[in-house]
Amino acid sequence: MTAVDPRRALSFGAFAEEYQRWRPGYPPDAVDWLVPPGATRVADVGAGTGKLTGSLLQRGLVVDAVEPDPAMLAVLRRGHPDAVPHQASADALPLSEHSVDAILVADAWHWFPHAAAMDEVCRVLRPGGWLGLVWNTPAPVEPWEFELVGIDPDHHGGSELSAPGLPSAPEETAYFPWTWEVTPDQWCAYLATNSAVAAMEPAERKQHLDRAHAVVARVCETTKRPTAPVRHQAFCVRWRPS
Ligand SMILES: C[S@@+](CC[C@H](N)C(=O)[O-])C[C@H]1O[C@@H](n2cnc3c(N)ncnc32)[C@H](O)[C@@H]1O
Repeated sequence: MTAVDPRRALSFGAFAEEYQRWRPGYPPDAVDWLVPPGATRVADVGAGTGKLTGSLLQRGLVVDAVEPDPAMLAVLRRGHPDAVPHQASADALPLSEHSVDAILVADAWHWFPHAAAMDEVCRVLRPGGWLGLVWNTPAPVEPWEFELVGIDPDHHGGSELSAPGLPSAPEETAYFPWTWEVTPDQWCAYLATNSAVAAMEPAERKQHLDRAHAVVARVCETTKRPTAPVRHQAFCVRWRPS
């Protein structure tokens, strides 16, 4: 996973409702892999609108949902009143020392200031706890899937996935495949919540969305189905302080 423009880190609040509506959640087997056995309290940092938070609450965990953007946090509070919300940043966690069994970060670690966030991870984790990271990422197989992900400005070709900013300690990684059935309109609505696409000039954004729409529509026409199956994977990392 490649680090991206930090100026976009706090751009999501401008389209928080669309983000909540169109972004996918995380596959259950990936969430299970990220939660330590016996965990009771975890932090979901960069929690956004709560796409991971909800899955953690469903597992009976106490969840500290940490999110700096007030618009994203407002959607999270509405959808997940049982979470403990904190408007804060990864480099200044409002959590006490050794207070959580895991710090979990979904599609957000690449936005964080890594050295400062890592200091906070080490301060807040209970002994034996881990930092768990997950990214949902396309896993193209068919030529049309490569064409589709090539239109996504945040997709970095076939380069191997890795988590930026971790100390040199060995990572445990896992990949959980899943398939997303999308209509052309659904894919475009999702793509519009990509911060790079959202930051484009209107004409350029329209061109990107039109191209993506055409790819998905072509598949639907060929297969005579309303949706196209876009292969994805949840790329997961566990890191423990030494
Ligand atoms: C792509 S969204 C992911 C949201 C959510 N975790 C999910 O899975 O849908 C990235 C989130 O990271 C948040 N973020 C950006 N910089 C951050 C920082 N320094 N500390 C904590 N969160 C941050 C953004 O506000 C945004 O909500």
